[in-house]
Amino acid sequence: MNSDLIAVVARGLEKVAAKEIRALGGGIGKTREDRGRVVFAGPDDAVYRANLHLRTVERILVPGGPAFEAKTAIQFSAVVRELPWENWIPRGVGVRIAATVRGCDLYHTGLIGEAMREALVYRGLSGEEAEESAPTIDVRGTGNVWTVCADASGGSLHRRGYRKATAKAPLRETLAAALLLRCGWTGDRPFLDPMCGSGTLVAEAASIATERPPGLDRSFGFETFPNLDVDVWRDVVGRARLRHEERLRQPLPEIVGADSAKGSVRAARSNLGRAGLGDVATILERRIQDTPPATGEPGLVVVNPPYGRRIAAGRDADSARGEWTAWGRVLRERLPGWALHALSPEKELATAAGATGRPLLRTSNGGIPVALVELA
Ligand SMILES: C[S@@+](CC[C@H](N)C(=O)[O-])C[C@H]1O[C@@H](n2cnc3c(N)ncnc32)[C@H](O)[C@@H]1O
Repeated sequence: MNSDLIAVVARGLEKVAAKEIRALGGGIGKTREDRGRVVFAGPDDAVYRANLHLRTVERILVPGGPAFEAKTAIQFSAVVRELPWENWIPRGVGVRIAATVRGCDLYHTGLIGEAMREALVYRGLSGEEAEESAPTIDVRGTGNVWTVCADASGGSLHRRGYRKATAKAPLRETLAAALLLRCGWTGDRPFLDPMCGSGTLVAEAASIATERPPGLDRSFGFETFPNLDVDVWRDVVGRARLRHEERLRQPLPEIVGADSAKGSVRAARSNLGRAGLGDVATILERRIQDTPPATGEPGLVVVNPPYGRRIAAGRDADSARGEWTAWGRVLRERLPGWALHALSPEKELATAAGATGRPLLRTSNGGIPVALVELA
């Protein structure tokens, strides 16, 4: 039976996530994008495949039932107590209720949590409050319309498990993957991140190239669902692991990260090793100014250069512009024919580096609005 699932994504990544979801195939087809969410339907194994394979998504939610309208706690309770929570919440186990409310008559999250807990008790479940790692029910109300879901991911999916070492200002793994996918990266040509920091873009590029499921080394919320079909889940993981092992035996392009800071190089190497991708990608200690002229087939650059808070004006702005102009020129001169992309916080900096045309994607990184631009 096909049922609806909701993928929670960072704002600005809805389109790239929707495309990634459609590419899962196996009965997963149409997607509907909303602000920070992509709704899709799929067969029984879709929830397992989505959690294991999606690179750009923060979490997968399983709606307890269709969206409904409620203006009072009584109306809200009447609906949520009829939903089959016993499918997703084990007996005797406490839960966490995560509620967000916008433009609803029922706005008191304490009251909403209480109504949810009462509904769980009504269905013979514990309803006790529990901490972070417990099964979570996600409640979202917008303009008196509610969706109430079981969180199938557990901790956010950006936590792949490999990134223990960090350098300055690391990218979220989900954002790094979204940038790569938006640039059309499939692993069919060389890749370079010349300012790689802790190596997130390199690790994600290597992971995509080798079809390594991003969730291979982590656990998921759905593994505690009473309705978990262990055989189907094992089969999904087993097939994914085989495909990755098969891909590792095939020829791969050069995937390289470089950074001028020793600490970043160390962090990137240890992260790649932990991801099982140490032999797939190379991390060099090298300044972007020293990028050698490319000889082989043209490839892809995606770079996340350093930037502080928004640069107002004056000397700092001049020096940042100067740096972006200089490294933009180096990349264009040394890597002719390569597709060059950068994540930029400022139109002015992007232009200094050689950006032309409209950004490929706009989102935010650590609270700063950023755009993925192509350098010509
Ligand atoms: C914003 S961080 C990159 C973060 C990275 N994307 C990650 O996820 O960890 C920018 C990196 O650029 C490096 N960097 C700064 N100037 C450089 C230069 N001239 N050549 C090479 N790397 C440089 C810094 O050491 C820092 O690690």
